[in-house]
Amino acid sequence: QAQQKQKAESLSDLLEKAGESYCKHLRGAPKAIEYLKKRGVSGEVSKRFGLGYAPAGWHGLASVFPEYDSPQLEEAGLVIVSEEDSRRYDRFRDRLMFPIRNVKGECIGFGGRVFGDEKPKYLNSPETPVFHKGRELYGLFEARTALRDMGYALVTEGYMDVVALAQLGFANAVATLGTACTPEHVQKLFRFTEAVVFSFDGDGAGRRAARKALDAALPLATDTRSIKFLFLPSEHDPDTFIREFGTDAFARYVGDATPLSRFLIEAASEGCDLGQAEGRARMASNARPLWSLLPDGVLKRQLLSEIATLAQLNSQDLTDIWAQETARTA
Ligand code: GTP
Ligand code: MN
Ligand code: MN
Ligand code: MN
Ligand code: MN
Repeated sequence: QAQQKQKAESLSDLLEKAGESYCKHLRGAPKAIEYLKKRGVSGEVSKRFGLGYAPAGWHGLASVFPEYDSPQLEEAGLVIVSEEDSRRYDRFRDRLMFPIRNVKGECIGFGGRVFGDEKPKYLNSPETPVFHKGRELYGLFEARTALRDMGYALVTEGYMDVVALAQLGFANAVATLGTACTPEHVQKLFRFTEAVVFSFDGDGAGRRAARKALDAALPLATDTRSIKFLFLPSEHDPDTFIREFGTDAFARYVGDATPLSRFLIEAASEGCDLGQAEGRARMASNARPLWSLLPDGVLKRQLLSEIATLAQLNSQDLTDIWAQETARTA
């Protein structure tokens, strides 16, 4: 146990050291500085997030780590060992680097973006003993004071969304790391705030992400918490939207965000014609697995009655039918 802890500490030390080196390289990389400028990122915000540059060579980190051959660098996800000839090389090359911190502020991994249209656009650290994508949120450490001051969190999809929002007045933004939002993500956020606004991209992928976030958030939607969903115009993500339309326009979207209760009903009603008995029945049937994820409380009771009203039933009938359905599918 103690040994494992020490190991985790040293992995994070290595990552911290790599991050410092990426930071230093940024100052000497006009291409990366130009890129940040083009995307409107200020020096101040770049510093806040510790952005850096991973140089283009295959062994850039060899000058940082005399122990370049040590298996620890591989374990930290910084170095890749070729399966063919066991040669070692840097995982991150010629990329804009975003250090990912845990809630204690320790560097646990990186996201790296290419400067052009090459694929993959973002390269993340692999799962390591200190980095678990399904649990960590980019920007959470940087956002912690703002979460307290502003009283809510914005959850986005991308690194640049967090950076742009922070620069333009929303330092309370975090991002999932290219994975679907998990219950663990939501749970972690609720350690810092009682209110969450999911703010994904306006495209189809963003809508699907919101739907997944609904599933993740429902079991945690207690009566004291506020969970909302913000839907941007389809061609925008928070970064492009706030840069084009400004802080006030984004704040209006936050103010108009859809509460979880309404999103649940919208999701259940999708493709259902509520003007027909069949459509109302299908809506109620779709609503059941979502509704049943809610923790007991006032919100859950109210939603039951709302769904019943939409289905043109009373709450007791709906409860009875759902109890039968549950018994049948169990
Ligand atoms: P920008 O083009 O820099 O604005 O990126 P974006 O954040 O808007 O990208 P996008 O909406 O396409 O994707 C959202 C998030 O998914 C990104 O921030 C990454 O975390 C992740 N992602 C996108 N592309 C890739 C990829 O090629 N590989 C991996 N592993 N993750 C990706
Ligand atoms: Mn672990
Ligand atoms: Mn997208
Ligand atoms: Mn973007
Ligand atoms: Mn995006």
